Amino acid sequence: MQSLCTITSNVEISPGVRLMWVEAPDIAVAAQPGQFITVRCEDFMLRRPLSIHQVSPLSSPSTGGEASPERSEGTGEGEIAILFQVVGKGTLWLSQRQIGDKIDVLGSLGKGFSIPSGIARRKVPRQSKNLLLVAGGIGIAPLIFLAQFASSQHSITLIHGARTAAQIYPLLPLRALRSPCHSEPFTVIASEAKQSHLAQDKLREESHPSEQAPRSNLSPLPQEIRFIPITEDGSTGRKGMVTDILPDFLDWADQIYACGPVDMYKAMLELTCHSERSEESKLKKCQVSLEVRLGCGIGACYGCTINTKGGLKKVCQDGPVFELDDILWEEVRV
Ligand SMILES: Cc1cc2nc3c(=O)[nH]c(=O)nc-3n(C[C@H](O)[C@H](O)[C@H](O)COP(=O)(O)OP(=O)(O)OC[C@H]3O[C@@H](n4cnc5c(N)ncnc54)[C@H](O)[C@@H]3O)c2cc1C
Ligand code: FES
Repeated sequence: MQSLCTITSNVEISPGVRLMWVEAPDIAVAAQPGQFITVRCEDFMLRRPLSIHQVSPLSSPSTGGEASPERSEGTGEGEIAILFQVVGKGTLWLSQRQIGDKIDVLGSLGKGFSIPSGIARRKVPRQSKNLLLVAGGIGIAPLIFLAQFASSQHSITLIHGARTAAQIYPLLPLRALRSPCHSEPFTVIASEAKQSHLAQDKLREESHPSEQAPRSNLSPLPQEIRFIPITEDGSTGRKGMVTDILPDFLDWADQIYACGPVDMYKAMLELTCHSERSEESKLKKCQVSLEVRLGCGIGACYGCTINTKGGLKKVCQDGPVFELDDILWEEVRV
């Protein structure tokens, strides 16, 4: 569905990364975690794909089966959020839009994450209980929606890796992140972000570095979700890459969901499939969201085709979520 959506909030939450809320009741009702929208940016021919980052209001997932939320009928107030990094002309244009401006949005698109109710492991079906979410950089965008969506019925650990503390997703109160009016200055957000990182640093000093970071009751992440920051420079959380701590969680996780750069996926493939870990670990399914460059975004141009064990697939239509070990990674170009 294509619609002109009014921007209700647009704030920079970390350097070069913006959180934007728009009124999109039809998308809010239908959206599934891992799906995306495309936005027409200025007069560029190609629309820019962006993951659905949050939905408001969020309804609870239905029990069992695939992740198919039965959302309440739209009240006309449904909003969706996108979280985007300013990397080029399109996202720069988007970052400069003001509250009240309208943007041309198409969505929700693609196939998102699924949460199987039973995982066939040694032919014994079992509940998918412990979900491990792995985010590399801006790859946190679709995983927050998944975490919010699944938290009532699953135990969730979210690992977020970034180069430095400022790029870690700020566990700010929703009020600050949504900032519905112009009058709330960014300095408020920046000071809260600083407090958030200071709190994370304090935690790092006082407890085991891999333990979860604290957050406000109004944080976009529910309290029960374990959030583990990890930075390449060690400025907050543990020092290293997400794949350094992934092995600690492989036995715990029933399902793994990831979004990040292709190199992160290749390292994860080594850890989950090709390592000398137990057969049980290797059977752990890992769903990844693939952010290749798109053309039309709706399955018409074949510009996003990738090769998988099941043959050629279109990222925009068959994905962007795929099983990690289904993709023929040596042939993937981003
Ligand atoms: C399904 C999907 C979901 C996405 N979700 C998000 C999201 O939630 N948040 C977010 O910040 N980004 C997301 N992206 C990437 C985003 O679409 C691009 O960053 C954006 O289109 C760049 O547009 P631009 O005009 O600003 O940059 P351009 O001028 O087009 O390009 C600037 C730079 O960004 C790189 N780039 C462009 N497109 C992509 C891409 N698809 N993947 C990787 N690098 C790219 C280019 O190689 C170039 O170096 C997603 C991509 C896909 C396919
Ligand atoms: S981008 Fe055109 S088919 Fe996927």
